[in-house]
Amino acid sequence: MAVPFVQDWDLVQTLGEGAYGEVKLLVNKHTEEAVAVKVIDTTQGKECLDNVKKEICINKVLSHPNIVRFFGHRMEGTTIYLFLEYCTGGELFDRIEPDVGMPEKDAHRFFQQLIAAVEYLHSVGITHRDIKPENILLDDKDNLKLSDFGLATMFRHRGRERRLTRLCGTLPYVAPELLSQSEFSAQPADVWACGIVLTAMLAGELPWDQPSESCQEYSDWLQTKTYLPPWKKIQPTPLSLLSKLLLSAPEERIRLPDIKKERWFSQTYKPAARLQSESQGSTAKLLRRDSEKLPLDLNKSDDRIQFSSSQPDPAAGVCVWDGSVYVGPSAGQVSFSQPARPEHMLLGSQLLGTPGASQTPWQRLVRRMTRFFTTLDSEASCSALRDASISLGLTFKHTCTNQVTLSTLDKRNNKLIFKVHLLELDQRVMLDFRLSKGDGLEFKRLFLKIKHKLSDIINSQKILLPVS
Ligand code: ADE
Repeated sequence: MAVPFVQDWDLVQTLGEGAYGEVKLLVNKHTEEAVAVKVIDTTQGKECLDNVKKEICINKVLSHPNIVRFFGHRMEGTTIYLFLEYCTGGELFDRIEPDVGMPEKDAHRFFQQLIAAVEYLHSVGITHRDIKPENILLDDKDNLKLSDFGLATMFRHRGRERRLTRLCGTLPYVAPELLSQSEFSAQPADVWACGIVLTAMLAGELPWDQPSESCQEYSDWLQTKTYLPPWKKIQPTPLSLLSKLLLSAPEERIRLPDIKKERWFSQTYKPAARLQSESQGSTAKLLRRDSEKLPLDLNKSDDRIQFSSSQPDPAAGVCVWDGSVYVGPSAGQVSFSQPARPEHMLLGSQLLGTPGASQTPWQRLVRRMTRFFTTLDSEASCSALRDASISLGLTFKHTCTNQVTLSTLDKRNNKLIFKVHLLELDQRVMLDFRLSKGDGLEFKRLFLKIKHKLSDIINSQKILLPVS
């Protein structure tokens, strides 16, 4: 894709894709400032153009530390570009281990920040309408950023509130009243979605396909069968909050001010014990967390980076998923600066930002767990991927050079489609998996199966970050 007006910017990688188009990472050639650009093709009808205009209007109103910052937009023919804060921490989804979730302390912090974002949004009369982990990003300091206001709308104007009628969002996250009533209040529906996100963070699974009584899991919840998964994996205090967030009657559902008074929400966690490796004086340390719990085969784990002890606070970037430890970029070490003068970017002139340390291609990658490196070249990696996919019953299709599309049905018979990009970086091949359609947790379960099948060709070589 060519972006004609930004000669000073490199398109580094695709960050995500959806029905609207793609989100790409732009890095300034001179200053290394980074922005995400959402590229929207408006030729799919007038409705699409109107929706984007609304998304722009809403973005312009918003300013909150837990909401992705909007820098501006530009129209080029039928394409609209939205320039957004680049979130190096990737999606919240990547912190959720399928069927396990994440440490309660992390979920607690993310949930507090999510509620701060939603509280702000509602205070300015806007409802998001599609809160889910795919629309929740993280910055380099692991701060949560609510993103994608493509379905957002105004529900209060000059103090007058209106009820909503449009059924939109993502079925496992929609509140039951959207399916059963023609009109409903905006705020309780967002609160419900926050409850589903909290369940996913604490249990690593979505509780139901949709909140209708024909759905067994939902009907079990209505009958308080909390001895069943996912509820049985959740501690009593957060479960008590979930029982109020996921109350089927919207008027009885807990409201934001009361969520903040809940015991689990307002509790503080003791600071985590310092990592053993931090107190050791070796020059290069391999970080592990919670080592007793992890059946860790370090030689099979690819998402690891060796750190020099002179790096600042490596623990800030540690993340555990799939029993492997990934040490992502930590603050001040591998962080992009955001544009100081975004209007300059829109005009295509050079930015006056603060140049950061020169970045290697490694450091330009957004933190993501669904990727690994192989020991083979591109062609052999692709053929090994094809064999592994076919043996797992997936449909394998070459979509373009260095890109493969895999598709199947998940355990709930829903379509699951994802793309694998084969990237050559520093003479190594990386297989980068991205969800195109379907449930993110199902996608990760399948990713793990493929990764396991390919364990013989996975490169376990550690990545040594340069010490600046
Ligand atoms: N994916 C979608 N939007 C993004 C953003 N603003 N930063 C990083 N990754 C993204």
